[in-house]
Amino acid sequence: METTLIILKPDAVQRGLMGEIISRFETKGLQIVGAKLMTISKDLAARHYESHQGKPFYDGLVGFMTSSPVLVLAVRGMDAIAISRKMMGATFGSKAEPGTIRGDYGVSNSFNLIHGSDSPEAAERELGLFFADGEVQPFNRAVECWVYDMTGGSPE
Ligand code: RTP
Ligand code: MG
Repeated sequence: METTLIILKPDAVQRGLMGEIISRFETKGLQIVGAKLMTISKDLAARHYESHQGKPFYDGLVGFMTSSPVLVLAVRGMDAIAISRKMMGATFGSKAEPGTIRGDYGVSNSFNLIHGSDSPEAAERELGLFFADGEVQPFNRAVECWVYDMTGGSPE
């Protein structure tokens, strides 16, 4: 089981798309195990996007991410990182395929609605940046045995 960090960016919050996007993850069978509405500080944005420091789009990206509240989510499931990235779609709204979150809800390249960790290492680092100890709460789902085939003893 993996847990990934998802951020519904300021445009998603302002446009009233939080519910629709959360529904997609829940409907898919992924579990929301952490959620927090917050305004990201410049310092936190810089740490989160440290790998992009120095790139031409960096200042605009940090400005956007700190401009208005975001909804930070911890999303859990088998292969949650790769599944979430696939659900998000390509980085730019103009290129993202229909059926994906970025493809269905936006056209902008920089206002692209959602962030998702891109590797297990990034997920661990980013979850640590945005959630304090105890704020992520994996809970037993009664429906788990219908979301996954557990007949072999492990989720399939
Ligand atoms: P994110 O980190 O936000 O989930 O997006 P991503 O993995 O799909 O894309 P990434 O390469 O990590 O880029 C982070 C954000 O920077 C903006 N960007 N602009 N103008 C450009 O060439 C460019 N490249 C990236 C996007 O807003 C992207 O979400
Ligand atoms: Mg990225």
